[in-house]
Amino acid sequence: MAAIHDLTKYLGQPDGPLAAVVEIFPDMVFVVDPEERILHINALAARSLGGTPGQFIGRKQDTLFAAPLAERHSRFIQKVFRTGEIVVTETHQEIHDTPIWIDARLVPLKVASGEVRAVVGIMRDVSVRVHAQEALAEREAYLRAMLDNFPFLVWLKDTEGRFLAVNQAFAHACGRAHASDVVGLTDFDVWPQELAQGYVDDDRSIMATRKQKDVLEPIFTEGASRWFETFKTPVLDKQGKVLGTTGFARDITERQRLNEELRAQREQLRALAAHVESVREEERVRIAREIHDELGQALTCMSMDLAFLDKQLPKGNAEAAARIQALATLVKETVKTVRRISAELRPSILDDLGLGAAVEWLAHDFETRTSIGCAVSVPSNVAISAERGTVVFRMCQEALTNVARHAGASHVSIDLVEAGDTLTLEVRDNGRGITDEEVQRPGSLGLLGMRERAALLGGVAEVKGTPGQGTTVTVRVPLQGS
Ligand SMILES: Nc1ncnc2c1ncn2[C@@H]1O[C@H](COP(=O)(O)OP(=O)(O)OP(=O)(O)O)[C@@H](O)[C@H]1O
Ligand SMILES: [Mg+2]
Repeated sequence: MAAIHDLTKYLGQPDGPLAAVVEIFPDMVFVVDPEERILHINALAARSLGGTPGQFIGRKQDTLFAAPLAERHSRFIQKVFRTGEIVVTETHQEIHDTPIWIDARLVPLKVASGEVRAVVGIMRDVSVRVHAQEALAEREAYLRAMLDNFPFLVWLKDTEGRFLAVNQAFAHACGRAHASDVVGLTDFDVWPQELAQGYVDDDRSIMATRKQKDVLEPIFTEGASRWFETFKTPVLDKQGKVLGTTGFARDITERQRLNEELRAQREQLRALAAHVESVREEERVRIAREIHDELGQALTCMSMDLAFLDKQLPKGNAEAAARIQALATLVKETVKTVRRISAELRPSILDDLGLGAAVEWLAHDFETRTSIGCAVSVPSNVAISAERGTVVFRMCQEALTNVARHAGASHVSIDLVEAGDTLTLEVRDNGRGITDEEVQRPGSLGLLGMRERAALLGGVAEVKGTPGQGTTVTVRVPLQGS
């Protein structure tokens, strides 16, 4: 047969060296003539058809495959005969009911005149690769679905700052319809220049340090600048080589606004509390003075009048004399009570002798009233204004009231220390010890008041307890303040 004869010209003898090479080829190889008869087939190809080469030589390809597939083969084979050009296809075939993917190259065998006498088919089963690609695509689809449903902006960049992948939220933020529209672009293509420069600088620094970076940064999106909390990380391979950067950013504009609102509200509440406190203090001063002055004066008058009446009383009226005597004693006692109430409301010693003396007085008064031993140590002269001193005094008073009411202590020590610009007040008892839960409890308004007062002066108040050993209240405030 002419064709076979011609073929030997190209392939050599069927048992020659070239044919032997074709035999050990990892691909399936066959040769067909213009009638699509098989002139040569290697063992691998014959095996995939379920036989040996001898069983297929001379048979037409359409007797080996189902009609639709045979027609398809025929189309490609005839195209090569017609055009004299190589055809490359990737086709999905079912061979013996097994679906496989075949990468096929059909090569023309030409004689000197250029006429195509035969077609060589080289076919490779690429099912494994195709399936791997499909599995990869599937995994990518899952990942993408996850990333696109993320309420954060997510991106991956190469070392040059080009986007390799972004999620839908990112595309949306930079005004692109699809995530794929951003791939290949850089920050400078999608963000305002100054912002882009900042992002690029960050990427450089994390690639250099190989450390994650968390930043609060503005992102310009939908015509407005919004605040984002961003986490940027270098991407490293197994050898530690930097492959690029990745990051995600969440919009915290709303959270920041709420925080700001909360802060402003707190500030207002604090100002209100301060105002109420100062009004209360003024009121105390006024009432203390009125009680002291008005009641005190009236009682002094009564006392003098009683003395007068006692003198004027005719002798021998023992009962009346005794009554006057009793009244005079009562008036004296009442004077003492008035002084005590007025002092408790607002110890004049605070105005007259200052904070140190007032704290000392408070300690002695506490000891007498409660029988709890009280050691006190104060500097002779505290350089603090009357207003600030009053606030510290009230905190000390609150701490002592708590000791009397809750501690079950037998001893308390008060230390007022001036060091540098700071005044420290420490009230330490040896009672049951306050628990952390009691310190944090929202209902602990006395303690809250103490902390607020300290904050008002630009300082802090801390309360700490050790079970069975006692409680310590420490107040630290600047001596001077606005
Ligand atoms: N020195 C202390 N030792 C043990 N427990 C204490 C001490 N001081 C406070 N506590 C506990 O902490 C709680 C909160 O104290 P806080 O001063 O805030 O409120 P309060 O004294 O109960 O009421 P008030 O508002 O009249 O001050 C107290 O109820 C008490 O249980
Ligand atoms: Mg209290």
